[in-house]
Amino acid sequence: MSYVDAGWLPPQSESEQGSDAEDQGHVDGLPNYGDVHFWTEVYTQQRGREMAPKEWLLSYSHFVAQGWLRFFPSKAARILDLGCGDSEFMSEAYDDGYEDITGVDIVPAVLDTMKQLNASRRPGIKYELADARELSLFPDGSFDVVFDKSTLDALKCAGQDATSQMSSEIHRILSSDGVYLCVSLNTPEEAQPAIEHTAHEDRGWDVQVLVCENGETAVKIASTFSWQDVSMTVQKGKKQEKQILSNISGSLSSGKVCALMGPSGAGKTSLLNVLAARIRTRGTTEVTGNITLDGQPITGSSLRKRIAYVMQQDILVPTQTVRESLWFSANLRLPKSYSMKDKKELVEKMLVDLGLVKCADTYIGDEMIRGVSGGEKKRTCVGIELIMKPKLIFLDEPTSGLDSYAAHNVILKLEELASKEGCNVLCTIHQPSSEVFHLFNKVMLLRSGKLFFFGGVSGLSGQLHAVNKGCPNEFNLADHVMFLLQTEAEAELDSMQAKMIMETPAAGASPDVPHDKSVMTKTMEGATAGFLTQLMALTKRAPAHIEGYNLLSDCGLRSFSGGGEAQNLWRDKPGLIASIIIPVILNVFFAAIFYQVGDITLDTYDPRSHFGGMTQVAIGGMFGAAQPLLLKFPLDRGIFLREYATSTYGSAAYFLSKTMVELPQSFLNAVITWTAAYFLMGLRGQFMIYVLVFWVTGVAAASTAVLVGCLAANAEVAQQAAPAVFVPQLLFAGFFITTEQIPAWLRWASYLCALKYGMNLNILNEFGCILGLAEQYVLLENKNNARSYITL
Ligand SMILES: Nc1ncnc2c1ncn2[C@@H]1O[C@H](COP(=O)(O)OP(=O)(O)OP(=O)(O)O)[C@@H](O)[C@H]1O
Ligand SMILES: [Mg+2]
Repeated sequence: MSYVDAGWLPPQSESEQGSDAEDQGHVDGLPNYGDVHFWTEVYTQQRGREMAPKEWLLSYSHFVAQGWLRFFPSKAARILDLGCGDSEFMSEAYDDGYEDITGVDIVPAVLDTMKQLNASRRPGIKYELADARELSLFPDGSFDVVFDKSTLDALKCAGQDATSQMSSEIHRILSSDGVYLCVSLNTPEEAQPAIEHTAHEDRGWDVQVLVCENGETAVKIASTFSWQDVSMTVQKGKKQEKQILSNISGSLSSGKVCALMGPSGAGKTSLLNVLAARIRTRGTTEVTGNITLDGQPITGSSLRKRIAYVMQQDILVPTQTVRESLWFSANLRLPKSYSMKDKKELVEKMLVDLGLVKCADTYIGDEMIRGVSGGEKKRTCVGIELIMKPKLIFLDEPTSGLDSYAAHNVILKLEELASKEGCNVLCTIHQPSSEVFHLFNKVMLLRSGKLFFFGGVSGLSGQLHAVNKGCPNEFNLADHVMFLLQTEAEAELDSMQAKMIMETPAAGASPDVPHDKSVMTKTMEGATAGFLTQLMALTKRAPAHIEGYNLLSDCGLRSFSGGGEAQNLWRDKPGLIASIIIPVILNVFFAAIFYQVGDITLDTYDPRSHFGGMTQVAIGGMFGAAQPLLLKFPLDRGIFLREYATSTYGSAAYFLSKTMVELPQSFLNAVITWTAAYFLMGLRGQFMIYVLVFWVTGVAAASTAVLVGCLAANAEVAQQAAPAVFVPQLLFAGFFITTEQIPAWLRWASYLCALKYGMNLNILNEFGCILGLAEQYVLLENKNNARSYITL
């Protein structure tokens, strides 16, 4: 028996039900799906049971067959089945390994039925009595997925306030990147306003619409990224301006891969940077134009976070292996709902997809470490971004340096990702082979910062023929166009452009879903087929003010996970060996010169030499700690900026993770230094106090060096600026001149010198314990410094 025969009709939109139904949505002759009494009757009375089907719209197996399981982020995902009724959907999902499931319904009887049914077989499924409009029993962010099979449709019958309250509650209980899966019979135009209507100003969703009809999947995604009249100018000199981009408009629709081509210097990278909000508009650079995602203007960090950007240069950590580079990205960037196992599986799949299995455990390498090939490096850069399954992917020449087969594989992977996941891909490319070029759906051609052509790749050849510049059969179309752009006169190109028909960029969201209502009344074949079943996957947008960083976990992962700071430090063997051997050699050398200088029983004893020995070790420690870190940030800057721009972690996590790894290393360094110097010099202070003072002053010097490195434009500037910061510390620390003798207006600077504090502590440690020598210390004219420290 079909449901149509039984008199059952699906809940339909308000517009279909006529204007008189707008308030309460009820239509004569149809049940009131927004009324709890209707559902109580459905679940408690035999006659009622015939009024609604047992399995609404979509079974679990059908859901899986559509490939929609990808919206359940992991087996550990916290799933809420909103308006669960007696559907077996989640029972089957539970059997499939999704164990954190909660069912909610408004009818107690149906919950009792489900509890009894699943008590022994599926004890993990929780059932709660609640109205979808009022879910206060769940705290904010309690779920990764809210699954709604036509509950929204039913509540639409209770009016707009009802759906607004429901969607507001869904938004609240979802985690920051949670997904609301809305299986609905309504068209996107009907369903979306119901979901988005809210008084809550931070609300926002990334919407995908997927249609399932008679078991066949048509993936249609209502995500459109477009830009209008984008221009960029840079100031050259006082009055001169250079126009880099002029009034470029275009759009990307989901599931499509667009090639951005043009001669070198045409402005491809500049356009990508502008579209990805990676250009600083302060100062000499001015950018104008509108960028919209699904019709909504989008700028700054909210735009940056949505885009995976593979840069033209390969910026990777040389001491990570390929697998670790992917793992590092997956670990820090995938939502917390992904378990370790899920992340590992994703990494392994990406390695296979990008043909990186053979070199998975090879170091990335650099000039000193023999590493992977250029093509493998490039594919690793692509994998690092794709592992996030981003919706917007920009790639700047991802195929340069690859042979045509490897290039084909990379673009094919992008094409697959676009069509399966509905991503928008924009990719600059030089010299694509014919096979590669025809994998692109669209092409945007630039010349001297201006748009020459935007449209389908398949139509380009015909367009060129129409202006008598057709590509000869044996030529590669992409090469042919590039030749034309660089050999034809400007006037000729202008006239060609005027005759060619360009695609008009889409202005906003235009979900490409058939809206023919007749589809909805097709004859049914089986329980779920026949009606146009539609899944809207709405990913919660993080409010703009929440950065989404978790300082402690990011810091921990950055420091100690595979491919993290600690491992990189360990792998950098030359650096590690130098950090141990150099202090040993240096301090043994100092100790040989100052041999037994602290032995007051010797005839040759001189307190100035005694003090000099300690000073020498402290100065050596300060420079030794500062030097390696001075260049650390300038050398890491590219990697930091790439990872920071993609919100892999925040700057605080970067700094803390570096410090966490540096601290034990500098402690070891302090122990080595004083083990080498202390006994040979015959010092008498407490060994551990020397070590601790050396450690702390070393950390202060290292932090100052990091600051200099961050402020400097590059490594060379950092090197040159360092003496200006460290040498004055010697003067203000009281070795060469007493603090009192320094002009009063400069004296305050001594309080900024970490070395001064370190030396004062060393003096107290050494001389304070030698009876009688405290007075000789007056000779050193350093008494005031030390005393003032005691009084602190
Ligand atoms: N900040 C800037 N200041 C001055 N000129 C700039 C700036 N940014 C870009 N340009 C210039 O704009 C032009 C376009 O540069 P862009 O890097 O976008 O070219 P491209 O098409 O990516 O070239 P290629 O194919 O060689 O990578 C170049 O002439 C470049 O020198
Ligand atoms: Mg470029």
